[in-house]
Amino acid sequence: MSVILKLENINYSYIDGGMKRTILKDCSFEFEEGKFYTILGPSGSGKTTLLSIIAGLDTPESGTFYYEGIDVKKMGLTKYRRNKMAIVFQQYNLINYLTGYENVLLAMTETDNPIPKNKKGVAYALLEKFGIVKTKADRLVSKLSGGEQQRVAIARALGSNVDLIFADEPTGNLDTATEEEIIRIFKQLTEDFGKTVIVVTHSNAVSRFSDHRLKLENGQLRLMGENE
Ligand SMILES: Nc1ncnc2c1ncn2[C@@H]1O[C@H](COP(=O)(O)OP(=O)(O)OP(=O)(O)O)[C@@H](O)[C@H]1O
Ligand SMILES: [Mg+2]
Repeated sequence: MSVILKLENINYSYIDGGMKRTILKDCSFEFEEGKFYTILGPSGSGKTTLLSIIAGLDTPESGTFYYEGIDVKKMGLTKYRRNKMAIVFQQYNLINYLTGYENVLLAMTETDNPIPKNKKGVAYALLEKFGIVKTKADRLVSKLSGGEQQRVAIARALGSNVDLIFADEPTGNLDTATEEEIIRIFKQLTEDFGKTVIVVTHSNAVSRFSDHRLKLENGQLRLMGENE
């Protein structure tokens, strides 16, 4: 199994009322290609911070992270964000004045990765794969249910043809049945599309679907035990 993402001694802290508060402390971990990881941890433990760092949206105080063995800082954060990873958010973060189809199409144009010539057909096919049939794909995303918007967001993440898919509480706004449907889709991303998926979640039910359950605790990531 090859390592796609490697964190090495990542440190992150901030100053709060003159006091230094450490969020990540020498956090190191290797993520294997094609696996589904979930990250659990108490509120405020630094999960979103960690995700922002590995998404190249924030920079750590010290430490390095590598994509396929290349220091991402040397690759360039913009290039990394554009071509290597996509994020799915709790609030979906779709463009509300566009349709689902247009949201996916836009993602296809915002990358340097090879995109199939038949963009239109591929965009509709991706959406349909996740249960968004053409009539729904042609609707403004603001007129879709939360679960449907999240399916569009997942199709959008795939549209840019990246290897890494990150998600921060992607089922936080959904009911239990929809949560399960969405999480099965994340699993499908690894099984059918070979993606590496890292999902931050508060839900033990969600984490049960992943290949590896991690906990962020005391500034570090560790594998959780079977009975935790
Ligand atoms: N630049 C900053 N300035 C001040 N506080 C910060 C800064 N960055 C992060 N924090 C604080 O760091 C802590 C960790 O935040 P983070 O959002 O990563 O936690 P989380 O594990 O995602 O929590 P939740 O489960 O509630 O989403 C929080 O207490 C947050 O307020
Ligand atoms: Mg968070």
